[in-house]
Amino acid sequence: MIILSIESSCDETAAAVTENGRRVLSSEVHSQIDIHTLYGGVVPELASRSHIQAVQKLSELALRDAGIRRKDIGAVAVTAAPGLIGAVLVGVSFAKAAALALGVPVIPVHHIRGHVAANYIAFPELEPPFACLVASGGNSLILDVRGYTDYRVLGSTRDDAAGECFDKAARVLGIGYPGGAQIDALAQSGDPEKYPLPRSRIEGHPFDMSFSGLKTAVVNLAHNAKQSGKELDLPSLAASLCRAVSDTLVSRTVEAARELGYGKLAVAGGVAANSVIRRSLLREAEKSGIRCYLAPLEYCGDNAAMIGCQGYYEYLAGVRGSSALNARATLSPDSDSCRF
Ligand code: KG4
Repeated sequence: MIILSIESSCDETAAAVTENGRRVLSSEVHSQIDIHTLYGGVVPELASRSHIQAVQKLSELALRDAGIRRKDIGAVAVTAAPGLIGAVLVGVSFAKAAALALGVPVIPVHHIRGHVAANYIAFPELEPPFACLVASGGNSLILDVRGYTDYRVLGSTRDDAAGECFDKAARVLGIGYPGGAQIDALAQSGDPEKYPLPRSRIEGHPFDMSFSGLKTAVVNLAHNAKQSGKELDLPSLAASLCRAVSDTLVSRTVEAARELGYGKLAVAGGVAANSVIRRSLLREAEKSGIRCYLAPLEYCGDNAAMIGCQGYYEYLAGVRGSSALNARATLSPDSDSCRF
């Protein structure tokens, strides 16, 4: 089964061709970083416009690179939630039109389920059930992946996502946008003990987290340093921030995996590219005898191959988008409405 897949939920337009879920025949990603850098964050209206300009060209490119003809396509999968609503709408509208023109079904895919599926592409032996951490610019979730289309949310952020915390910290420190990767690079030469930063705990909800306090702590450090004319040790602040985010995410993920008892955990999403988090997860999972699957860097960020992969499993489960399929800005990955 060959699937053409489309992703446009935030600031990357992507198209891919996959075969039977896990085999990637092509994967094209067009980043909008150049457009949004000027504003220090994603401007939704500009994101939608850029998706419109890129989506058809990228799809043609994905088909050409995969070396397939249009008549080989069995379905079109698309991110239908969650994300910036105008941006998701571009992908959904394009996918519906393409599916109609090709005479094949359209398969709506939940973006977070797609991130989880990045691990199926990288690890042919990985099958549910497993625990999974998905940490990106807009989401921080700990999931019980009970089956390919059977999810339970064990914990999530109460406010900002981990990626938002990295990006905002980078902005106030003048490091650039999006800041996660730059903070990670800076952190390599810093002292992670130098700046004491808060770690959240939410009483009665062991797997939930909060990153707004951490974000504010870094913003306050930056403002205080500016007002008193002191220089911050940026590599050490970056290292301290990575350590604080890592402590928060890793302790909960490993604890959740221990409680579930599947003996496996996976990690996905842009923030899962962070080297401190990756090292710490591997170490802590190993201590608990849990096998840790780390999605490779090329599939951590937004891409359409992961949407095609998850789309295949949704297809097998009978999920089909109707002609009235709409985009949704918010939707939990364990919701029944993931059948759209
Ligand atoms: O999954 P993703 O590409 O898009 C969303 O669906 O949000 O994640 C983007 C987020 C951004 O916040 C970015 O700063 C962060 O992932 N990120 C990182 C790293 N690389 C990307 N955060 C920490 N360390 C990194 N190495």
